[in-house]
Amino acid sequence: MTTWSDRAEAYRESPTHREGPDLDLVVEWCDPGEGVKALDVATGGGHVARRLREEGCSVVTLDPSPGMQPDVIASAETIPFEDSSFDVVVSRIAPHHFEDVGAAFAEMARVSKRLVVIEDTLYSSDRQEEAEKLRDPTHVRNYTEDEWRTFLTAAGLEVEQVEYFEKTHPLEAWLARTGCMGAEAERVRELLADRMTADGSAWIDTKLIIRARKTGS
Ligand SMILES: C[S@@+](CC[C@H](N)C(=O)[O-])C[C@H]1O[C@@H](n2cnc3c(N)ncnc32)[C@H](O)[C@@H]1O
Repeated sequence: MTTWSDRAEAYRESPTHREGPDLDLVVEWCDPGEGVKALDVATGGGHVARRLREEGCSVVTLDPSPGMQPDVIASAETIPFEDSSFDVVVSRIAPHHFEDVGAAFAEMARVSKRLVVIEDTLYSSDRQEEAEKLRDPTHVRNYTEDEWRTFLTAAGLEVEQVEYFEKTHPLEAWLARTGCMGAEAERVRELLADRMTADGSAWIDTKLIIRARKTGS
């Protein structure tokens, strides 16, 4: 996980990670408040954790990359907590990096008492997948809403709410965050041609936010 550790500062500072209506909704759907215990899985720059703490939650951050300075260094596929340890388990803009998303969501459901909230990029095309992998080799895959529903149901969760957001990514900063340059960056631009803004300075993807409840809670 040295790749991610090297990028830690870039992800702490990234405007598209630090703020936005998508982050606001993720926080709202966690039902935050005094005494609420939350686990932020794949915390990265810690933006969800920061916002939940501001709302009075007691938050544990988890990430396999030491450079992200999480409270617990572990992957989503093996979460070192007892069953039902948290009121809410959240993971934002990260599951597309998980090697085994089914195992990760089984673990997230297991350690949650009530809620699991996720935000991730929606699958749109194989061209976008190729571009994202080229720009960042740690990209595994984006999923459709149907695939998400299947993962969450298999993990013993009931989907309560789903919302979509369009997110605009200034291209140069987005490429620079993962050190993508030269011919590879050119190929990424070609692959994303149908997602570019009119002036070509940014591209747009769709984020999916899902709130799911542990069956029977
Ligand atoms: C884009 S960042 C997360 C962004 C952050 N959640 C936010 O809201 O700004 C992706 C993170 O996923 C982490 N990650 C990669 N593979 C993982 C895995 N298998 N389990 C948990 N975290 C993982 C990386 O270390 C990195 O910190």
